[in-house]
Amino acid sequence: MNELSAWLAVNTPLESEPHKYIELFADERMRLLGLNTLAKYVERLNLDPREAQILYQHVAPPETWLFRYIAAFDVLREAILKSDHSKVIHVASLGCATGSEPFSIAATALSCGLTKDQFQILALDYSDDHLNITRTGRASALAQRTPIPKWANDFFRPTTKGQLQLDPRGLAMINTVRADLSTWQPQRAYDFVFCRNVAIYLNSPTKKRLGRLLGEMTNPNGLVFLGHADSLSLEDTDLKRSQIEHAFVFFKSKKIPQSSTPVGVERPQPKQSIAVKSSMSVPVARAQTIVLPPPIDLFTQAQIAADSGNLAAAEKALMAYVAIKPTDSQAHVLFGCIKMAQNNVAEAERSFTKVVYLEPLNSLALLSLAAISDLRGDAKSAERFRDRAARTVVEQRLD
Ligand SMILES: C[S@@+](CC[C@H](N)C(=O)[O-])C[C@H]1O[C@@H](n2cnc3c(N)ncnc32)[C@H](O)[C@@H]1O
Repeated sequence: MNELSAWLAVNTPLESEPHKYIELFADERMRLLGLNTLAKYVERLNLDPREAQILYQHVAPPETWLFRYIAAFDVLREAILKSDHSKVIHVASLGCATGSEPFSIAATALSCGLTKDQFQILALDYSDDHLNITRTGRASALAQRTPIPKWANDFFRPTTKGQLQLDPRGLAMINTVRADLSTWQPQRAYDFVFCRNVAIYLNSPTKKRLGRLLGEMTNPNGLVFLGHADSLSLEDTDLKRSQIEHAFVFFKSKKIPQSSTPVGVERPQPKQSIAVKSSMSVPVARAQTIVLPPPIDLFTQAQIAADSGNLAAAEKALMAYVAIKPTDSQAHVLFGCIKMAQNNVAEAERSFTKVVYLEPLNSLALLSLAAISDLRGDAKSAERFRDRAARTVVEQRLD
């Protein structure tokens, strides 16, 4: 373990294995700060909380987009529609990054006809920078990677800068909180908890705590949404995986687990503070039929492998998938991203070009082609692709 991973291990809840990308980033910061040894950079991290924050944001980046894993939002919408609207529904988006997740949740609630008095969203993140962006209610062009579902379209308005602005009624539902999930204590229970693509960055004790916290803070019959690659241990909890494909949703059965000390015990707040009664009538019938995790399809396998950095496995699963579904543009997008990560720009360009042929309004492919043109020093083409990407936002709405 080098000095940098030792610093991360002591000062953050992050997985602190030495990593080429972290080392490259530290080199870049040292160059910018005029520091010539790693020891001096580590000293700077100790003295300057802003520098420490910058490193944290690099190790656990705010990678997010609107309606990420769309199936999760279909599940959420169905559960909201079935719920008792005379009581406030509470939702948590833990590790909300720059807001696309809480924005998607808010638009889902608006599509069910709910108001801020009926639906409240806690948007929590470690980073003030990300929360500042969340408070604007704007999703950047890069946060528009999958089509917005038709039922949510009315709650986003395109801006002149290619962003999508959440309806103010949705923004009013969102309360931002800066907190560290390794120590955070919820003050209440939640009907729906999103904690997606956060655990992948955390060390084992924090993951363990987080798994138990999710179990404790979720109302009976509530739902917990995780990411593809979030390896959280949920065996100490009464959370069970549902069979709904692609949603990575867990339901909380009514049975209270006997074992294990509650996470809240070592903390000032007593456990009772989060053990409030359920206000939901989420799909119990569905929950009762659910037993085992479903087999994962090839595309999901590829996504999981890519999310956890196993590019070779991701590529293998994608090749098998594309052999069956050669015109699935999402597969070619992922292939392009993998090729970019492998520094194989020529192949990445081929994939993104294929995507634009299959799906001319795919803004991620257009923006990637712009970045590739930039890399080649072809500013004119880059500008053209960026222009097209910005126009896709408007055209998609007219569709
Ligand atoms: C990859 S983003 C996931 C965003 C969103 N949940 C999604 O799936 O699209 C991970 C986020 O987790 C946040 N995060 C990482 N460690 C955290 C911690 N200890 N406490 C709170 N947030 C944390 C990061 O700041 C980052 O914004």
